[in-house]
Amino acid sequence: MMALRLGGWRVAALARGCLTGTIRRSAHDSSGVAGVADIPKMLWKLGRLNHIAIATPDLDKSTALFRDVLGADVSEVQSLPDHGVRTVFIDLGNTKLELLHPLGPDSPIMNFLKKHPSGGMHHICIEVDNIEEAVAALRQQQVRCLNERPKTGAHGKPVVFLHPKDCAGVLVELEEA
Ligand code: CO
Repeated sequence: MMALRLGGWRVAALARGCLTGTIRRSAHDSSGVAGVADIPKMLWKLGRLNHIAIATPDLDKSTALFRDVLGADVSEVQSLPDHGVRTVFIDLGNTKLELLHPLGPDSPIMNFLKKHPSGGMHHICIEVDNIEEAVAALRQQQVRCLNERPKTGAHGKPVVFLHPKDCAGVLVELEEA
């Protein structure tokens, strides 16, 4: 019965069974219905810019540029076979750069480098606090996800990629922080 008195979005959310624990009841409300001030607007929140990814045809050369010429903190090379990439992370303090190089014949970076032979900006990654809720909400808004389910990303955390055509031409990675 409670669901019928709530706004449409909450009815849908309750039907998915995902609001458990997120409705705080007002201390002054004995009816059992959440106070208006306590109702969360969204079930997930966008966070900080985690990294900007740059595809490069020469990972060693690009790593050397940032490490030796620009003096940045640079990680070891990491291979991510699930994503078809080799990565190097560059710590800039307020955010990171992710250098990407193809790994394996089906790498998505291979096609990108065919179109952009000298490399280029490949995607941006923004943190979210709840990736499952983010994906559910984005699907409802007709924003396409490139993968059906979140995959494990470079930091061992779940990530999804959003279709660039639905994001102003930019490939957007969401990472659960
Ligand atoms: Co990334």
